[in-house]
Amino acid sequence: MKKKILITGGAGFIGSHVIRLFVNKYPNYEIINLDALTYAGNLENLCDVDSKPNYSFIKGDITDLEFVTNLFNKYKFDGVLHLAAESHVDRSISDPLAFINTNILGTVNLLNAAKEVWKDEMSDKKFYHISTDEVYGSLGITGKFTETTSYDPRSPYSASKASSDHLVRAYFHTYKLPVVISNCSNNYGANQFPEKLIPLVINNIKHSKTLPIYGKGDNIRDWLFVEDHALAIDKIYHEGKVGETYNIGGNNEWTNIDLVKKLCDIMDKKLDQAIGTSQKLISFVKDRAGHDMRYAIDASKIEKELGWKPSIKFEEGFEQTIDWYLENTEWSDHILSGDYEKYYEKQYKNR
Ligand code: NAD
Ligand code: DAU
Repeated sequence: MKKKILITGGAGFIGSHVIRLFVNKYPNYEIINLDALTYAGNLENLCDVDSKPNYSFIKGDITDLEFVTNLFNKYKFDGVLHLAAESHVDRSISDPLAFINTNILGTVNLLNAAKEVWKDEMSDKKFYHISTDEVYGSLGITGKFTETTSYDPRSPYSASKASSDHLVRAYFHTYKLPVVISNCSNNYGANQFPEKLIPLVINNIKHSKTLPIYGKGDNIRDWLFVEDHALAIDKIYHEGKVGETYNIGGNNEWTNIDLVKKLCDIMDKKLDQAIGTSQKLISFVKDRAGHDMRYAIDASKIEKELGWKPSIKFEEGFEQTIDWYLENTEWSDHILSGDYEKYYEKQYKNR
């Protein structure tokens, strides 16, 4: 019997890389991608794997309890990798409820359905919840988040993810549901929706639009190549210990302004224009409300216990990423019309 694996949010940025890895690496798994195709979900992300015999897509909303329950009863999944979420901090500031619904209620629906369908035999099952380093809050200049750092979420997004993490752990302790959690730092790579810093800046440079830097640009993020995240997810799903949490990070901290300047210089070279041209587009704008100063991950546990560490050097991954956005203009053009334009106008109008 083929193992049936449910991956939620597989049409999104990270989910699509996880689907690609699993579909290609595990021909003996039946991979089912459940995604509501919100503004962030895009089946074009999966056009290279969607005709493989071990892959299928189901459009559905994890906030719909009846739908989720029926789905679990029908497929009796052996494992769940849960990535579906509302994921953009700025959107959580203007519309927190969408985050509460999907990230908290949606996660509980999946937990309940798994608990019910696995009640007679849980030993060979796994519910893997993919989460973020933002649950730990904001760091000063020193220190790193470890798996035992206390939770201190400060945005509606991170509070909703923290809440879902707590619920996943509660189902482990209370109902013995075989869960595992990972908390990862900022990802970059192909197929990221251009509301996030790196693709937004690449796209704005292409169109000679200003590059909005929140506050002074001195906030720090720890960047990891998305394909390395997918490899870590593979390790944790297969080898992670039930009940455990693993931090995943790139050991690659950048202030936003330094990162954007580096991006500008690489883009100038690629677009064959004088170095300094793109940097002139930088514009310091009103800060994000409650903007976390610094994130940094201590990923020594996953390295020691599961043997994972980032495999791609930042320079290489960054260059590869920029090339992808420059080459895949059709992908960007499809996203950058309609709703995205309205979002952009609203988000950046008064900054
Ligand atoms: P994304 O926004 O690109 O994709 C989210 C996907 O979930 C989309 O395909 C969307 O259609 C789907 N979705 C949203 N609501 C849904 C619902 N109610 N029912 C079914 N599907 C729904 O997000 P991402 O950046 O790929 O992040 C994936 C996961 O990884 C999230 O849980 C996020 O919190 C976590 N994470 C992201 C990062 C990062 O840097 N992007 C870092 C660490 C952790
Ligand atoms: O740390 C993991 C998290 O990383 C994930 O959980 C989130 O889903 C993901 O969106 C990301 O959150 P950030 O808020 O760090 O990512 P974002 O790309 O939105 O912003 C990165 C930094 O750049 C942050 O300090 C805010 C800043 N920024 C962002 C935008 C969109 C700007 O200065 N200008 C911008 O226009």
